[in-house]
Amino acid sequence: MTGWKHRWTFILAAAGSAVGLGNIWKFPYITGEYGGGAFVLVYLLCIATIGVPVMIAEVMIGRRGGANPIDSMRTVAVESGRSPWWSLLGIGGVAAGLLIMMFYSVVAGWALEYTWQSLTGSYVGRPAAEVSGHFSALTANFTTQMFWHGLFSLLTAAVVAAGVARGIGKSVEVMMPLLFLLLLVMVGYAVVEGDFARGAQFLLAPDFSKLSPKAVLVALGHAFFTLSLGMGAIMAYGAYMPGHASVAKSVLAIAAIDTLVSITAGLAIFPLVFSHNLEPGSGPGLMFVTLPIAFSEMSGGALVGTIFFVLVSIAALTSSISLIEPGVAWLEKRGFRRPPVTFALVAVTWLGGLFCIHSSAVFDALDALTARYMLPLGGLAIALFVGWQMKRSIAFSEIGIRSNALQLLWYVTLRFLSPICILAVFAHSLGLL
Ligand code: PHE
Repeated sequence: MTGWKHRWTFILAAAGSAVGLGNIWKFPYITGEYGGGAFVLVYLLCIATIGVPVMIAEVMIGRRGGANPIDSMRTVAVESGRSPWWSLLGIGGVAAGLLIMMFYSVVAGWALEYTWQSLTGSYVGRPAAEVSGHFSALTANFTTQMFWHGLFSLLTAAVVAAGVARGIGKSVEVMMPLLFLLLLVMVGYAVVEGDFARGAQFLLAPDFSKLSPKAVLVALGHAFFTLSLGMGAIMAYGAYMPGHASVAKSVLAIAAIDTLVSITAGLAIFPLVFSHNLEPGSGPGLMFVTLPIAFSEMSGGALVGTIFFVLVSIAALTSSISLIEPGVAWLEKRGFRRPPVTFALVAVTWLGGLFCIHSSAVFDALDALTARYMLPLGGLAIALFVGWQMKRSIAFSEIGIRSNALQLLWYVTLRFLSPICILAVFAHSLGLL
């Protein structure tokens, strides 16, 4: 992989990593499970006080280190006179990426299957109950899922094996705006056909009585998951960022795009949930049930459905490559050739995915382990490293904002507020706070 051509390529690639199934599939369903508006508010607070500062820190380490997360951590630690053992953080990140990929590619496989269903028009004009029944039938079918999950894994491997700069740079430039446009079309449909007022209220009006300690932990974990933080994906991409680009401004753009996509997806999905008397807390099937119902009733629904699920699949692909890339880049630097190590790593995650397909308990456990614990703890370590271990002069020379006040605001947030918030959420969820 060669360097990104300009600032925009980095922003688009990083936004491609951030915007994925986390926004369109996961965010709406966990918001439904954990009670709506209050959950969304905590999630937004986590993005602002933890996500943005930590993302700045990650990009900074990547650009300064100029390599995969394991080697970048070591380089920057040594440069700051600290222990080379900080590279362990990179190793944990590579592992987290592979573990996430195991269930992520299963869900992406569902999106591919729904692309096929839309293309063949199989749900058009069918009654809502039948359309929603397809999802339970799919998740009960091992072979079908194995096929689509395998196909998605192969696609991911093909892109990563070829190197990321050209393929991804170009494709995200076209796909990201298109995805956004289609989401707007879906919101338009939700306004006309759904119970928009109720959906919007559920998403945006906080009811704190519904906010459990676990919900707060899930919101924190999701802030990391959706921004691709805490495991080195953004660090790996940051390594290819040109020196003149502003880290802080790029990060703000990425976080804003990611958040807008999530909120838009929520506004497209919840109005349909309520107008069809579906359960907002019905879990991972939410997107795969509500949107096909909408498509089945629309004129031209097969076409819109096909385009939509193709875009979801592509959004998943621009994220999955960043789950594998840190490990691949690291092995490549150890002298292995990129294509074989890529296929080897993806073979491992494909096998892991079979366990997720076989048992939803494994699926849930991997999801919880990575999103709820590994990513926030990785993020905590990154905040502590940049805030307390890395030389301040290096951090300030990398951040790329002129205003001293803003620089200081970031630094103080990263040193104190972000770590304290992460620890407080953990303590709260353990019943200590
Ligand atoms: N951010 C991606 C999404 O929301 C998932 C992801 C997590 C990608 C961690 C890379 C690293 O779908």
